[in-house]
Amino acid sequence: MKVRDSGMPEEEMWISFFDPPKVLATLGLINGIENLVEFGCGYGTFTLAAAGIASGTVHALDIEPEMVQVVEQKCRVAGIVNVQATVSDFVAEGTGLDANSMDAAVLFNILHHEQPVVLMKEALRVLKPSGTLAVIHWNYDPTTPRGPAMIIRPRPEQCIAWGKEAGFPFNEQNRYDLPPYHYGITFKKPFTQIN
Ligand SMILES: C[S@@+](CC[C@H](N)C(=O)[O-])C[C@H]1O[C@@H](n2cnc3c(N)ncnc32)[C@H](O)[C@@H]1O
Repeated sequence: MKVRDSGMPEEEMWISFFDPPKVLATLGLINGIENLVEFGCGYGTFTLAAAGIASGTVHALDIEPEMVQVVEQKCRVAGIVNVQATVSDFVAEGTGLDANSMDAAVLFNILHHEQPVVLMKEALRVLKPSGTLAVIHWNYDPTTPRGPAMIIRPRPEQCIAWGKEAGFPFNEQNRYDLPPYHYGITFKKPFTQIN
């Protein structure tokens, strides 16, 4: 089931909202990452930047075959060989990845899902102990040029509460401003499950 309000504007507009390498670096996704999973890769705005920092595979999942084709095509053109782009409904089926296999999981602009904790629990499952879950979302501000309707748009505090509910501890230091329109949050998978 496609996440509500998760359609994309034209790519030219979407890419203008982000500096992908800077976003990843701000979230601490810089090096030491072997495998990464991206829930909802869209145009691959962050996928190609992630491929540059991952020594293993970037698993880019999207329910839209067109998005997966766009990402595959971009990787071909850029000579990137460590992206595995797959058509997948991670709401209905999960990621299909092995437990404890990923160093990082990214939930970017997707947590306005009806069941965000389900997605975060799946991230927890596939992450290695000490692996990073990174979340970004639109600021809780009705003047942003895009973003889900305010009624379903989560505040950072809400994402933190969902992460805790999913089983991630949270450290206040791991909140980030991602100007002009986004915030970020990171969580680390504990070595021992906390729930
Ligand atoms: C708002 S876009 C964000 C794309 C990307 N994360 C970014 O920030 O640039 C959300 C993406 O998630 C995909 N998506 C929505 N529901 C999904 C589902 N159930 N399974 C897999 N992908 C899904 C949409 O097709 C869309 O490409």
